[in-house]
Amino acid sequence: MLKTEMITEIIKINPNAPEEQYLEKAADILRQGGLVAFPTETVYGLGACINNRDGLKRIFTVKGRPGDNPLITHLYTWEQLSEIVLEVPERALVLAKKFWPGPLTMILPKKETIPPEVTAGLPTVAVRVPAHPVALEMLRKTKIPVAAPSANLSGRPSPTRGSHVISDLNGKIEMILDAGATGVGLESTVLDLTSPRPRILRPGGVTLEMLEGVFGKGGVEAPQFTNVKRPLAPGMKYRHYAPKAPLCLYSGPQEKINRILSEKVEEDLKAGKKIGILAYDEDRSYYELPGLHFFSLGTRSHPEEGAERLFYLLRLSDEIGVEYIYAVAPPRIGLGEAVYNRLWKASGGKVEEI
Ligand code: TXA
Ligand code: MG
Repeated sequence: MLKTEMITEIIKINPNAPEEQYLEKAADILRQGGLVAFPTETVYGLGACINNRDGLKRIFTVKGRPGDNPLITHLYTWEQLSEIVLEVPERALVLAKKFWPGPLTMILPKKETIPPEVTAGLPTVAVRVPAHPVALEMLRKTKIPVAAPSANLSGRPSPTRGSHVISDLNGKIEMILDAGATGVGLESTVLDLTSPRPRILRPGGVTLEMLEGVFGKGGVEAPQFTNVKRPLAPGMKYRHYAPKAPLCLYSGPQEKINRILSEKVEEDLKAGKKIGILAYDEDRSYYELPGLHFFSLGTRSHPEEGAERLFYLLRLSDEIGVEYIYAVAPPRIGLGEAVYNRLWKASGGKVEEI
């Protein structure tokens, strides 16, 4: 067991009207080089000021994060962009005005002053303005941009509840601002703006369809899934978002998947295994089996329900001690693409096409 290194101040903060004194305290800690976990509209972030290299290094230590995985810099307004990036291209400005604050991270050439810990030595930097009152107000008070990866231990599902952060980081950082559940539930869309055609490196809350609304159909490169070893966003190569139990993702026609899966599940249950199934409310009737843990991703027509719940359910399955998880793939449109991507990552790329 690791020895607890410090006392973490855990503060329940009002998500809609965050208390001034807590925001001030968080901003003070950040400005002094400390680490604060804070809610965003996607997942909780673990922040350090970008001008404090020791603080930045501690993010990697505390999370157990590989040093080659760069961080996202968080701003409170697009007007801070010029502090971070070499120049602000017109299309970045268009996107910022349309989608910020919101779950869109842009990759742009960095200013020389940005320390290498933020970008893991890359010449580009990831930036976004989060749409959460706590994050925004904290950033406004801090003034200095804050680099923040998701506030989980490396490899674990990203935290979408204050309790997730507490279970991963209590005793390791100065402060946790607990504002309950986040919103989107999956991390932001990462969009590379350094290539002529913008490329989605990680699908998220700002969908391909939404970006096509700006760049036109075919104007944006869809996320690539196949090359796990050499992805464009360094972070995408690590086994991520993973529950302890192995997870297998099933893709194909709804009826067929359910018939095949329900038989598999029944066999496993007979063999005494502790099984979880991640599926949609419409699938429920196939899985009314004693002892089976049915984890609902909501309805297929509302992918935001599955997005909001997915990481919570993966952590729940760990707590229950589920030994094997079967997952039904969502339709890959809109936010469904991001849900599919996280399930695919959690499966380690193991997809059964039915
Ligand atoms: O919603 C989010 O984006 C959350 C909240 C806290 O803002 N943050 C988050 O950070 O998910 P993290 O560190 O878990 O994921 C950042 C992703 C990684 O896949 C990383 O490799 C990629 O962004 N990234 C960061 N800088 C990059 C760069 N310069 N070029 C390519 N990918 C980059
Ligand atoms: Mg992460």
